[in-house]
Amino acid sequence: MTDPKLRVLISSEKIQERIRELGEQISKDYPEGTLHMICILKGAVFFLTDLSRAMKRDVHVDFMGISTYGKGKTSSGEVRVTKDLDISLEGADVLIVEDIVDSGVTLNYLMHLLDQRKPRSIRIAALLDKPERRLRPIHANYVGFQIPDQFVVRYGLDYAEKYRNLDDICVLEEGAA
Ligand code: IMP
Ligand code: MG
Repeated sequence: MTDPKLRVLISSEKIQERIRELGEQISKDYPEGTLHMICILKGAVFFLTDLSRAMKRDVHVDFMGISTYGKGKTSSGEVRVTKDLDISLEGADVLIVEDIVDSGVTLNYLMHLLDQRKPRSIRIAALLDKPERRLRPIHANYVGFQIPDQFVVRYGLDYAEKYRNLDDICVLEEGAA
């Protein structure tokens, strides 16, 4: 499907290859016990399904909905939980699975929130990282790709709910809607 507004930044082959590496690394880093993967809806669903299948160990998956109110290319800074977890995190090894770290506002909020639930450990796996845009300090322990300050779509990432599907990651060119 070609779209003149989209330019491929990361091919689906590169994404899958990197996810296999991340899956092996994470499996090695947690040699024992159950790992609770928490997927941040909706964007990270695609990454979660591929990453969990690349993990050669027991994992549980759960979902959390977070809204940052923004409908355009920037989040407003106001964070709200729209769907909470079904499970307790007390004593658990938790891996937050996110599509992209941008300003860091969402993950900064979430780390504080989940930390209050007394997990044994809490780490972040983000497919993409845009370090130039950081407003709040956030360190993602596992990052697929660092990318420049450009707005990207596909493989779960949307612009106003559009463009989430398909397997590569593309830059949405300036001025496009
Ligand atoms: P943050 O709170 O600014 O770090 O924003 C994180 C959220 O903003 C992500 O979960 C995405 O939903 C969204 N976001 C940030 N950058 C992009 C992008 O380039 N494309 C699509 N969504 C993005
Ligand atoms: Mg998101």
